[in-house]
Amino acid sequence: MALIWRKSMDLGNNAIDHDHRYLVCYINTVELALQTPDDKEVLVESLAQLYSYAYDHFMREEIIQTKIKYPEIQEHKQEHKRLLEQFMELRNKVKSEYSAQELEKQSNDLVDFLRHWLIDHVLNEDIKLKPYLKNYPSDLT
Ligand SMILES: [Fe+2]
Ligand SMILES: [Fe+2]
Repeated sequence: MALIWRKSMDLGNNAIDHDHRYLVCYINTVELALQTPDDKEVLVESLAQLYSYAYDHFMREEIIQTKIKYPEIQEHKQEHKRLLEQFMELRNKVKSEYSAQELEKQSNDLVDFLRHWLIDHVLNEDIKLKPYLKNYPSDLT
């Protein structure tokens, strides 16, 4: 079932909140692509789109963190880096190791992993930005 963004997950910055919603859409697209595991090209492309959007989002978020003088920016940057590495590992496995049959078997686990990959970071780490963002206009980029 598709993942739906909840208003309670918003941080109060338009750019970040917009990005998070889009990332959820990209994860839902990967889930859709997993329904046709024979067409691996579609799946690999959907993972590439998610990676590229996540990369850009992390950069945008880090610029905003600098502007709001977020004290834990270094740790947060490290975490973004770790998430991208973890994602690349998964993408490489999907691209070169998994057969269509294996993908079908692992489909639920893969979607689960991606949901946690994004949502856990947003709910445990990005959420810490909220009190700092409050002091700035919501259209800060
Ligand atoms: Fe984020
Ligand atoms: Fe983040």
